[in-house]
Amino acid sequence: VTDPDIRTAGADETRAVGRVVAELCEPGDVVVVSGDLGAGKTTFVQGLAAGLGVDEPVVSPTFTLAREYHGALRLVHVDVYRLDRVQELLHLGLDDLAAEAVLVVEWGDVVADHLPADHLAVRLAAPSAGDPDQRAVALHATGPAWADRVGRVAAALTRR
Ligand SMILES: Nc1ncnc2c1ncn2[C@@H]1O[C@H](COP(=O)(O)OP(=O)(O)OP(=O)(O)O)[C@@H](O)[C@H]1O
Ligand SMILES: [Mg+2]
Repeated sequence: VTDPDIRTAGADETRAVGRVVAELCEPGDVVVVSGDLGAGKTTFVQGLAAGLGVDEPVVSPTFTLAREYHGALRLVHVDVYRLDRVQELLHLGLDDLAAEAVLVVEWGDVVADHLPADHLAVRLAAPSAGDPDQRAVALHATGPAWADRVGRVAAALTRR
């Protein structure tokens, strides 16, 4: 886990965290983004996509479950905003869909059991009081894939 959590003071700063993560991404990576409604999950993915050189707008994949974007790497964005989508997700054949891509899953903790165990976990939280534009962004490597990279995100952000 990044220590302390990264604090962002607005959507653009959360996008900046996504851009830094994008710079560290490799084909086959999985990024799981969790947090309450409106926490900024899609905002983070927008930054990630921008960092990968995607120039299309990133929107929540409401009707399509998964959306694919093309940047320096292929980006597959999945939003499992309802539990009944888990079954759909499994039918999609996530492994094929995300092979050689960066797979980013919103509401990921809902489907954690079905996702690759070794991923970057991103948890966004809004403060219960105070500035409504503040967010805490916690990054956590669940296995070796991101173990060495997770600390480089915070380091890159403090350099800016
Ligand atoms: N520090 C911040 N980081 C991210 N978003 C912020 C921040 N401050 C304010 N916001 C606003 O909060 C909203 C976050 O919306 P977003 O769609 O990214 O959330 P979400 O977690 O994907 O929601 P959902 O649960 O509906 O998928 C946006 O309107 C954004 O502008
Ligand atoms: Mg969203």
